[in-house]
Amino acid sequence: MPYCRNLFFNDFDQLRADSCVLKITVNSLRTFGMIGLFLAGLLFVPSLGAANELSPVEQLGKQLFFDTNLSTPAGQSCASCHAPEAGFSGPNSQVNLRTGVYPGAAAGRFGNRKPPTVAYASFSPKRTFQDDNETWVGGQFWDGRADDLIAQAKGPLLNPLEMNNASAEEVVNKVRKGGYQRLFEQVFGPRSLVPGEEEKGFDQIAQAIVAYESSREVNAFRSKYDAYLAKRATLTSQEMRGLELFAGRANCSACHPHEPGADGSPPLFTDFTYDNLGVPRNEANPFYEAPANINPHGRQYKDLGLGGVLKQESQFGKVKVPTLRNVAKKPNREFVKSYLHNGKFKSLKEVVHFYNKRDQEPNQFPPADIPATVNHTELGNLGLTDDEEDDLISFLETLSDEFGPTALPQPLWTNPSKNSLRGISDLLRVERFRHHVIQASAKSDQSRR
Ligand code: HEC
Ligand code: HEC
Repeated sequence: MPYCRNLFFNDFDQLRADSCVLKITVNSLRTFGMIGLFLAGLLFVPSLGAANELSPVEQLGKQLFFDTNLSTPAGQSCASCHAPEAGFSGPNSQVNLRTGVYPGAAAGRFGNRKPPTVAYASFSPKRTFQDDNETWVGGQFWDGRADDLIAQAKGPLLNPLEMNNASAEEVVNKVRKGGYQRLFEQVFGPRSLVPGEEEKGFDQIAQAIVAYESSREVNAFRSKYDAYLAKRATLTSQEMRGLELFAGRANCSACHPHEPGADGSPPLFTDFTYDNLGVPRNEANPFYEAPANINPHGRQYKDLGLGGVLKQESQFGKVKVPTLRNVAKKPNREFVKSYLHNGKFKSLKEVVHFYNKRDQEPNQFPPADIPATVNHTELGNLGLTDDEEDDLISFLETLSDEFGPTALPQPLWTNPSKNSLRGISDLLRVERFRHHVIQASAKSDQSRR
């Protein structure tokens, strides 16, 4: 009865008649607990915990993801820059407003880019060049420099501008001291984290984090738009106008595909290609002032994006198209998020206005850092009215994972096997799913060219 494990997302989910006896029981138990039947609470809270969505490896990964003892000095976890309440991106409104990029664990050190969302990153394929439409697709980070999440997850732990550990050994030591031994042995077997096998331990740490990043908790597919696609919700007339613009005159779906695949797989709102939007410099980026050993170019620094990784001028300034799922998600109305790879813009209004007017009223915007590769064919002069900009934003607000039950095709996240490495086998399933998504987005890519 794997599907029954969905319970806690699914307060008002339709009952699946075949397998949901457990569901009803557990849900009513939870209701008891909530109305304060203390005894019932005592008895059943542990089993509710066990019914929680995550497999052991995902649970382990989650603990690591939120553990602020894994940085040097202690105090910073992955979630310090990728927090669920901010859609798995930067959770500090002040930082978002002032700099847009985040301080690392060591005092005074800043990265050069805004933390993108971690949600749905697991769907990005390895970076490859597609001959038919002459474009790079896939990879991790804004510039695609890591192939997959395993390679990616090790990066921040060792990056001096982020969690600042000196070596794999240092990370493994911290995990060893952090009370993880039992969970590690449960997930990876006896003789986990043993001295002398630090590389293996470090790999397993990364695997667990990736299992969490690939889990249904992080990739929930439970936005209002998902519910709309599943015919369980209707959009307001403003959201509907926004969707029509998104898919039509505003051309957003050319790079942020919005339609489900033929097999019903939900859209990811990115085709994982690369583009230079000509985003103005973020003068408040502290990286410009970083010491020469970190930024040898000082204020002349330009972010070359994918071009810097490939050392190819034709790709200078291009960054990966981010998913738009959860772009609008924030803990409260006053909270400020920053947008784009350098955190230059502080609201969706600014972003959409930029797409709309960049080329029509160029004086409104400082020039692009790398003008030669800016995309002028698909954006920059959309001819939208102010109200239409707001309609688009209203649609973007339907993409936050805070609506109903997941709309993900059932077999994808539910695994009947008792294998404690469920998260890893999920990855393989995700791989198949990705394949569909990529094919679907490649098609939509061809149709726009
Ligand atoms: C100090 C802030 C900070 C911390 C701490 C941090 N990250 Fe990040 N993360 C970033 C930034 C900035 C980027 C983008 C960097 C780039 O593109 O060059 C990023 C990128 C990523 C991406 C790539 C997403 C994509 O779509 O390309 C993933 C995944 C990720 N981080 C996971 C993690 C994990 C796992 C940890 C903990 C082990 C972590 N991050 C810790 C700031 C941080
Ligand atoms: C030609 C491809 C392309 C088109 C068309 C496009 N985008 Fe984007 N979008 C991107 C890329 C690439 C980025 C990242 C650019 C950067 O950070 O420099 C991005 C970033 C964004 C972001 C910021 C996300 C974040 O996490 O910071 C938003 C919001 C956004 N796009 C919305 C839209 C909307 C709305 C439209 C239609 C009006 C649109 N996009 C059309 C490629 C595109």
